[in-house]
Amino acid sequence: MARPVLRDGFDRKVDYLRLSVTDRCDFRCVYCMAEDMTFLPRQQILSLEEIYQVAEAFVALGTRKIRLTGGEPLVRQGIVGLCQRIAALPGLHELCMTSNGSQLGKLAQPLFDAGLKRLNISLDSLDPTRFRELTRTGDLAGVIKGIDAANAAGFAHTKLNCVVMKGRNDHEINDLVSFAIDRGLDISFIEEMPLGAIAEHSRADAFYSSEQVRERIAERFTLLPSTDSTQGPSRYWRLAEAPDSRIGFISPHSHNFCATCNRVRLTVEGRLLLCLGNEHSADLKSVMRRYPGQPQKLEKAIIDAMQLKPWRHDFQLNDEVQVVRFMNMTGG
Ligand code: 5AD
Ligand code: SF4
Repeated sequence: MARPVLRDGFDRKVDYLRLSVTDRCDFRCVYCMAEDMTFLPRQQILSLEEIYQVAEAFVALGTRKIRLTGGEPLVRQGIVGLCQRIAALPGLHELCMTSNGSQLGKLAQPLFDAGLKRLNISLDSLDPTRFRELTRTGDLAGVIKGIDAANAAGFAHTKLNCVVMKGRNDHEINDLVSFAIDRGLDISFIEEMPLGAIAEHSRADAFYSSEQVRERIAERFTLLPSTDSTQGPSRYWRLAEAPDSRIGFISPHSHNFCATCNRVRLTVEGRLLLCLGNEHSADLKSVMRRYPGQPQKLEKAIIDAMQLKPWRHDFQLNDEVQVVRFMNMTGG
């Protein structure tokens, strides 16, 4: 029997779920969080069992790829067991995770053994002092140890994510590219998104476009356009000097990917977000808590929610906050 597929009101296929498993993090990256954050109380967040039930319902409805996000997913107790259960869902092609790398030194191998397929690891600087400034609490050596542990555990196609901020880390772009090449990793450079109010720096001042990043890279390498594509905001290039590493550019300000958008996000509060740049959402936690043991109710709520997915997002490049969620509430 053909597997069902979720479709939204514009007939886009939705087969990719980004699932936030915690709003907490051991870092406080300047573009993601305020310095002193208040996190959600336990009863407000989904239990591991509820997160699993949502994953199960989405996979039953045709989801092929799930990415676990946070906050930092690896600070959630029980995360390895959750990965193992989700990875085993029949019909799921790929279980991935976005992590800050701090816990990978000890968890990379158990995660790989649990069936996690791929990792994206954030890395914004190779200078320990600057790394500490940008993450406020992070330790660069621990993250590099985590990256090496992921390679040693057997993860392939690991990707580094770097948010580029003018005057803060733009001069490190080519060193980060070299670091990725040396370890056989892909790397993506991300334009900062206006999510959540952050006093630390002005987004308009720190903005560094993907175009500018490419110009920087062209000073040291030969960039070759690539046809590799995801259905998201990433565009990939390769380097003549290192054909194994892909160089990605994520430009959330551009609209040219909305037409093929195949993804939705679940916050750890159980809110299903239909678009990163819009407030449209459906409350799946209430459905699960009102109808325990009735997965068909949850599936119906998910199918109905697809009609709320807007045609496109609308980010503006200024410091007016349009979406008041912080990134740790949204899951990247
Ligand atoms: N803009 C762009 N990317 C962000 N991330 C977090 N906050 C932002 C933001 N405001 C990304 C970082 C990190 C991932 C978890 O989310 O790249 O790697
Ligand atoms: Fe934590 Fe990632 Fe946010 Fe940094 S960007 S504070 S690592 S969740």
